[in-house]
Amino acid sequence: MSLAEHLTVVRHPLVQHKLTLMRDRDTPTAVFRQLLREISQLLAYEITGQLAMTTRRIETPVQPMDAPALDGRKLALVSILRAGNGMLDGMLELIPSARVGFVGLYRDEETLKPVQYYCKLPTELGERLVIAVDPMLATGNSSVAAIDLLKEQGATDIRFLCLLAAPEGVERMRQAHPDVHIVTAALDERLDDKGYIVPGLGDAGDRMFGTK
Ligand code: URA
Repeated sequence: MSLAEHLTVVRHPLVQHKLTLMRDRDTPTAVFRQLLREISQLLAYEITGQLAMTTRRIETPVQPMDAPALDGRKLALVSILRAGNGMLDGMLELIPSARVGFVGLYRDEETLKPVQYYCKLPTELGERLVIAVDPMLATGNSSVAAIDLLKEQGATDIRFLCLLAAPEGVERMRQAHPDVHIVTAALDERLDDKGYIVPGLGDAGDRMFGTK
């Protein structure tokens, strides 16, 4: 799979403008959260652009018609804790019938490997389009581990939605999960030696929850 098939960067002016506001270190927490909610809706619009359609017979006030409608494919949104939660609300406003799951991982300080501390997923994952969400695709370690877990639980059709991606994380995902398409608002330059995306926006969880 080529990079273009693996990754979509959403260059819509509204997405890019909101992202610039989010990157700005002076943007307050409440505004950051609101922007993340809005941008998540725009990204969700993009990632659901290929959903299968059918037609439904309806009657408008003027005449009957076969009108386009979603074919009813089941959907699951899976938040990778904790920052993924910031993307959920906006997406659920757009796709209210989606089921929601949560995966929590922390990094073992000795092995540096992600360890699962929480997992609650919707049933019938194999029948659903599963959209995993995490604002920052940095090293890719936790994203790869979360997707490993989703596949172990039966998911076969998975997409990954993030706000910012580093080339290192995209490559790691591409190696581990070439079948998972990534949608992001920007592909940044690189990771720094602490694993932060450069130029990035800092720690997404801290910025959305006002922690340090
Ligand atoms: N996680 C973040 O929140 N920010 C980064 O830059 C990298 C990982």
